[in-house]
Amino acid sequence: MAANQNRRIVVVADPAAQAKTAAERIIARIAANGGRVAICLSGGSSPKQLFELLATEAYRPKIPWDRVHWFIGDERFVPAGDPHSNIAMARKAFLDQCAPPANVHPIPVDSADPAEAARRYESELKSFYGADMLTRERPLFDVVLLGVGPDGHTASLFPGYPAVEETTRWVTEVPKANVEPFVPRVSLTLPTLGSCREMLFEASGSGKRAILTRVFAGEDLPANRAHSQGETIWLLDKAALPENYRE
Ligand code: 6PG
Repeated sequence: MAANQNRRIVVVADPAAQAKTAAERIIARIAANGGRVAICLSGGSSPKQLFELLATEAYRPKIPWDRVHWFIGDERFVPAGDPHSNIAMARKAFLDQCAPPANVHPIPVDSADPAEAARRYESELKSFYGADMLTRERPLFDVVLLGVGPDGHTASLFPGYPAVEETTRWVTEVPKANVEPFVPRVSLTLPTLGSCREMLFEASGSGKRAILTRVFAGEDLPANRAHSQGETIWLLDKAALPENYRE
């Protein structure tokens, strides 16, 4: 069992409401920090609607873009413009239109291999943070967005893989993916993802019901091991709720 004591489940009607709620949570976290803000984005398709919403006239003016930095929790080791690239989706949906280029921190997929990309991203995170060790007093990220895959993976931390057990490195290579797309990955590790004020999972649609049933039963899955040192929120829409779920 992987107990997740500080997890809170928030249920909304549909993906549109989910994107709105996530946008508002992010904006509240930005407002709570008067200095430099760091947000770690998730890959996959779940955050697309949220990303697009952040670029709309209703939300764009609410974000002080100059002081917000955008990172990514995992990347597929494919060229920057590849349709499978996580950062490419975020760039297209909102970053290229809204964020100063120097505030966008992609995983360097121009590296020789995923191990080198992981090392380079780790150095970038350490230099942004200004120290080689994460401390609880000063979390790395204000918000970490995450999703959950059909096998219970989160970021590119797949069940049973050594990357899940990594406690020293901030970023690791994942030579083989457990689900599609079957390309090597680079992923932040659990301690790095957990160094945040808020971790916000998003899952929607009936296709997520089976894995959420396992997650909420407390199975030892990477998505259950991921938790923030602050608040951990699972933002779900009604269709994703397991049948036996009771609030
Ligand atoms: C990735 C992800 C991954 C994703 C989940 C959920 O690179 O694939 O970061 O962890 O968040 O697999 O994916 P969906 O949002 O597409 O369901």
